Amino acid sequence: ELPEPFTVPLPVPRPIAPESVSGDADVYRLAQRAVEAEILPGVRTGIWGYNGTFPGPLFDVRAGRTVRVEIANELPVPTSTHLHGGVTPPESDGYPTDVTISRDGGFRPHMRGHNGMELSPEDWTFHDGVRAYDYPLPQRAATLWYHDHRMDFSAPQVWRGLAGMFIVRDDTDDALPLPEGDRDIPLMVCDRAFTAEGELSYPALDPSLREIPGVQDAFMDGVTGDINLVNGAPWPELEVSGTRYRFRLLNAANARRYRFALEPAPQEGPPFVQVGSDQGLLAEPVELAALAMSPGERRDVVVDFSGYPVDTEIRLVNRLAEGAQRNVMRFRVTRRENDDAEVPRRLADVEVLRPDDAVRTRTFDFRRVLVGGSGGNMNWTVNGAAFEPGTPLADPELGTVERWRLASDFHHPVHIHLAHFQVLSRNGRDPGPQDAGWKDTVDVRPYEVVEVLARFDGFRGRYMLHCHNLEHEDMAMMADFDVV
Ligand code: C2O
Ligand code: CU
Repeated sequence: ELPEPFTVPLPVPRPIAPESVSGDADVYRLAQRAVEAEILPGVRTGIWGYNGTFPGPLFDVRAGRTVRVEIANELPVPTSTHLHGGVTPPESDGYPTDVTISRDGGFRPHMRGHNGMELSPEDWTFHDGVRAYDYPLPQRAATLWYHDHRMDFSAPQVWRGLAGMFIVRDDTDDALPLPEGDRDIPLMVCDRAFTAEGELSYPALDPSLREIPGVQDAFMDGVTGDINLVNGAPWPELEVSGTRYRFRLLNAANARRYRFALEPAPQEGPPFVQVGSDQGLLAEPVELAALAMSPGERRDVVVDFSGYPVDTEIRLVNRLAEGAQRNVMRFRVTRRENDDAEVPRRLADVEVLRPDDAVRTRTFDFRRVLVGGSGGNMNWTVNGAAFEPGTPLADPELGTVERWRLASDFHHPVHIHLAHFQVLSRNGRDPGPQDAGWKDTVDVRPYEVVEVLARFDGFRGRYMLHCHNLEHEDMAMMADFDVV
């Protein structure tokens, strides 16, 4: 039985504090643990969480200041942690075969990858119990997130709870008169399904998540659930004052796409004023009636509740779903308050990349094909190949811009590690305002070619691009590139 919508208050995460602060880094400690949590009212659900919470602790940190996160794995499975959107050195980027093994009952993964492909022992790096990730954050203020990235098993491990948000701030963003403090709220949205006993339900081929990756055949398009969670709570409610709020929306679902809208929409003015994209502030605000978001994408929006009378209930819905699944959360205007926030007409200087800036063009085709001849498997691939660690498909030069053409047979939210990009075109046409700004994830729709201009800044080394439908990612729709 589904819980009654809008009865649980929205959890508003408080930032985690560092364990220690030194001249060169702020050190944080996380432990990945199996615990019982109350997600559905009155029901105990086993989760895997960073510090035993879902979502994991919120990071609220400064650009340009190194964050070191020491992560202890106390789970029965290997883990790898990726800071999504981070400009991170390769050894801290959460490569899928660079894993931490619990000292207590952990196991080293089998030496075969997805769908029976051989992985040699040299493809793996094992850390014993704990490892430290360094995030120097040479980047703009932006809403990032972190999540599990274990080879072949990211999807079920994120589904069990291994995901959290990571806000990077800087002086430019701070100087703007946007809503702040308790009117600046991260909203991690995802869907989940539960068994009758209240456990998270996931159609893994191997429920122990030890040996056999992947999902049952019916789930080739990805795993969705019938309950939307916001900050880990089912269909929650937030009491707001009749003022402006800044919401940092993240689609953290494995495979569900959202098209967020407000019902009722405000009488006057746009429902959403987008001020930031995956990688921070837009040059100027964009007014939108609805927000399309594929897995992995973020949007920073301002919502103005001043036009709603006190006691109005406003639902945030997903226009792509029906029935109960359409509900995401509800806002209730409970009071009038002063509002000195505003959305300035200019937000930030954003350099616009041009096709001429690109030193070369490459094509990446995201498609389902038969891999391994007859007797092989249908597999989600990039350029016809299932992921193989250490086989880079591209070698962009540090500091250059390239034009990448992303082609698709289905909805594939394509994420590029390290490099930030701007969307140049969709099927040859100008992208709409929905694609504005610096991004790291873009929804490539069925039979579409999305061209992006990507800048490879920060570090040399091995990175990856992949589909952020996490089931597709686990089914090998992933590729390496080397920044040289
Ligand atoms: Cu959010 Cu490679 O992932
Ligand atoms: Cu995909």
